[in-house]
Parts: sequence; structure tokens; C-alpha cells
Amino acid sequence: MKKIFIIANWKSNKTIKETEEWFHSFSDGFKRDPFSLENKEIIVSPSFTLLEHANYCSGNLKLPIKFAAQTISPFEEGAYTGEVNGKQIKELVDYVVVGHSERRQNFGEDQDMIDKKTQQTLKYELVPILCISNIQQTQSAKLKAQNYNSKLKSYKILVAYEPLFAIGSGHPDTPENADNFAQKIKKELGKIPVLYGGSVTGDNVNSLTQMNNIDGVLVGGASLDPRKFLEIVKNA
Ligand code: PGA
Repeated sequence: MKKIFIIANWKSNKTIKETEEWFHSFSDGFKRDPFSLENKEIIVSPSFTLLEHANYCSGNLKLPIKFAAQTISPFEEGAYTGEVNGKQIKELVDYVVVGHSERRQNFGEDQDMIDKKTQQTLKYELVPILCISNIQQTQSAKLKAQNYNSKLKSYKILVAYEPLFAIGSGHPDTPENADNFAQKIKKELGKIPVLYGGSVTGDNVNSLTQMNNIDGVLVGGASLDPRKFLEIVKNA
């Protein structure tokens, strides 16, 4: 049975109180209608301000949830006002989302910046979830993989294919297209897990995760509602 990654990307949403409510509602829903999570890795990616409390809530409720940061500083600790660096992030998460298209578009993150962020993520032995929308964007991951393979014993990376037209639009890519793209990524980068992201719901998730080359989903909008996200986890 392949391992399936299900990632909740909360983006710039939720307060501390809303975070607490989300975890309680997710937990209540799961306890009411439990199902096997044996092959599933659930990862929640909230804003930095929420991470500590989210960790606390999840631990308290004994939920098997891991955490991801939504970005990382391209620099080490030091005089970089406003940035959160790898050493700080490592205290709270196992994964870091790198290169999300919203950061590329709204914050001018170019390939060089994304390379630096990937490098910082790997340096602190966190797993990058590299978001790409075309095959050229795999290039930096390939170079970094070569550089870091020799240094890190257990080099790991996840890639999320997120076509721009599908993000937040309600129009996901077809499972066949997503699977073809995932296959191309695996040809480029080796046998790494490849996820699909863009308008994933409880209704369409299984048509995606049942494809040979798709190892999970990155969920934006639908992950904000704990019931909808639980449905996605259940059906994935
Ligand atoms: P969406 O977002 O699920 O709201 O389409 C996906 C993403 O941006 O990661």
C-alpha cells in the first residue's frame, strides 16, 4: 500500500482561537467516525503565529498530525527583520512548503530565492515540499538533491504539482494530466513522492490519489473547514 500525504495549507488564515476550534472539531469528527490512518501522513501548515498552539492542541488530542511551515528564511539567524529561520522553524515542524505559486507571484520569489530556501530547509534536515507548476521548476530541486545527497544521509523531498489554473478556482486538473505530470517529475528527480494540488475536495480526492504516480494532495481552501478536510483524509 503506497503512503499518501495529505497536506492542509491554511495560507494566511485563522487566529489562535480558530486554530483551537479546528483541532477540536477535527478530533471530534474523527472519534465519531474513525478510520484507518495506517498509510496516511497528515500534515497541517498554519501561519507561524499559530504553529506552537497548533502543536499543543494536536498533542493534547493525540492526533497523528505533523506540521509544515509555509515558508522559510533564505538566511541563517541574524539581522533579517521579519524572517523566520531554519533553526527556529526546526523546533516546531518537520516540513517546509517552498516555492508556492502565491509566493512566486505576490512576493517576487524567483528561482534563486527558492533554491536558497530549499537549501536552508535541507540544511536543518527538514523536508521541503517544493511546489511547482511546470517541469522547468524541477531543475533547482535536482541540483540541490545532487549537492545534498552526499551530505545528508536521508535526503528527502516532496514535490507538489500545482497547475496555476486549478488553484482556488474550483476546477482541478484531470487525474490523467496530473498523473502524467507526476510521472515526468519522477523521471527528472527519481522516486520521490509527488503530490497534486489545486481545488482538491472530498469528492475528487480519490480519483487523484488512486493514480499510479500521485502520492497525495496539497489542499488549500477545503482544508480550512475541519469537516471538509477530514472527509478528504478519509477518502484519499
Ligand atoms: P486550493 O489551493 O485547494 O484552494 O485550490 C491549493 C494550494 O494553493 O495549495
